[in-house]
Amino acid sequence: MTGQPLSDRFQYKTADALRRKAEALGVDLPFENDLRILLEPADVGGQRVPNRLAAQPMEGCDGTPDGAPGDLTTRRYERIASGGSGLIWFEATSVAPDGRANPRQLFLSAGTAPAFRRLVDLTRAAARRRFGDRHEPYLVVQLTHSGRFSRTAGEGRRKATCFNPHFDRPVAGMAPPPEHPLVGVARLLGLGAAVQSEVPAVPAVATGLSWLRQFWPPVAAGLLTRGMAVFAGLGRGAFAYPDAAADLMARGVLDRTKCCIACSRCTELMRIGSTAGCAVRDHPLYSSLHRAAMASARSVP
Ligand SMILES: Cc1cc2nc3c(=O)[nH]c(=O)nc-3n(C[C@H](O)[C@H](O)[C@H](O)COP(=O)(O)O)c2cc1C
Ligand code: SF4
Repeated sequence: MTGQPLSDRFQYKTADALRRKAEALGVDLPFENDLRILLEPADVGGQRVPNRLAAQPMEGCDGTPDGAPGDLTTRRYERIASGGSGLIWFEATSVAPDGRANPRQLFLSAGTAPAFRRLVDLTRAAARRRFGDRHEPYLVVQLTHSGRFSRTAGEGRRKATCFNPHFDRPVAGMAPPPEHPLVGVARLLGLGAAVQSEVPAVPAVATGLSWLRQFWPPVAAGLLTRGMAVFAGLGRGAFAYPDAAADLMARGVLDRTKCCIACSRCTELMRIGSTAGCAVRDHPLYSSLHRAAMASARSVP
């Protein structure tokens, strides 16, 4: 032990300061200042993907009672598509009526398929409107069955046992993790790289970048340059800053004031049974939802 706190607030003003912290912690974070690789096209199964930026599956818990995409679902994917992500990974979508993780999870069935068709058309149209015909995002859907974690309408909220908020993403504002968040970020990126090296023919999507805020692009470019992944994935980053790819295309840098701050409010929204979105950057829609949802959760005896 060095006597330093294991966790600290995000206090890095420059990519260099972040790099120095990583070095001090002994974690291997690749940095590459030339970001062009992020905007290069890729090939997935013979289909062209316009760039290497992937919006990861992020559940908004805003489907209709029968599992079709709702208005907020459509809003989310139109925002992501017109933000320029080359690969859009649609959120957890149940394949069975009793396999939904929450009553507003999407459910793909013969009855809801036309609404999904429309969602796909609107998503593609949003990308085309902004970037033209050469930019057609690659669309993937995450099909799921939540097994023993399924929860349908009428069932109460499940009590989380052994919930570790830091397990698949470092978060601020929760009890500190037993390690510096950068160690967790490096571990996630390393796991992705291990998968990529085991199955080089399958393009891997790197995950865990959102915690790095405005400095994720040089780390993502470093990963891709080293062959540690083919795509740079953003989960919470896609909620907070759906047009990050467009800003990179236009200006070569991110706007710090639009970045995810890893505060975990979107996770809180999901856990208390609300529809989820970025309560910090997607203002006023999700900030007021978060305020109202937290007040109502507090008032429950
Ligand atoms: C509100 C919320 C919803 C999520 N929904 C999904 C999901 O539907 N499927 C999934 O595999 N992961 C889901 N994740 C995990 C993210 O896709 C991502 O892997 C994780 O947040 C780490 O990436 P990040 O640091 O860029 O956020 C969700 C995360 C959050 C915070
Ligand atoms: S609420 Fe917004 S800023 Fe906070 S973790 Fe979620 S996406 Fe990031």
